Amino acid sequence: MSVREILRMGDPRLLRQAEPVKAFGTPELQSLIDDMFDTMHAANGAGLAAPQIGVNLQLVIFGFKHNPRYPDAPAVPETILINPVLTPLASDQEEGWEGCLSVPGLRGMVPRWTRLQYEGFDQHGQRISRDAEGFHARVVQHECDHLAGILYPMRIKDFSRFGYTDILFPGLDANDD
Ligand code: NI
Repeated sequence: MSVREILRMGDPRLLRQAEPVKAFGTPELQSLIDDMFDTMHAANGAGLAAPQIGVNLQLVIFGFKHNPRYPDAPAVPETILINPVLTPLASDQEEGWEGCLSVPGLRGMVPRWTRLQYEGFDQHGQRISRDAEGFHARVVQHECDHLAGILYPMRIKDFSRFGYTDILFPGLDANDD
């Protein structure tokens, strides 16, 4: 297990369409997932997508009990989600602040579906199907966007609400991003 380098915005590898995972339950897949958790935890991330460490597979991880980068966010179950498909469950969207380990030091206000179903597989090939709302739904949408080569700044509508984390949130202990 090891902490991997996180690619930063501007790297063309963040802009690719990721490939589906075809082999489940392999040591290689488990090793990749272990590295992703080490990398996410080292950076206090709420989630991480495989393309962010240069692996072009449809694999995301997310979840935390308490996250210092999002101190007001409710807990999100720790999840490994492979080959995901997202389906909105309501037509409404809401705006919320997001950051990204690939866009260090910045936050932006991003519209997302408020409620959705996500489906996919875990590392053993077991099917996952879950409904999510609020910050949980936001994190899933953010991470799965990485699999389509989309970074959150591409979804910002109002650039007056895009800026440096330490200016926007002076008290926030988030100097690691
Ligand atoms: Ni991100």
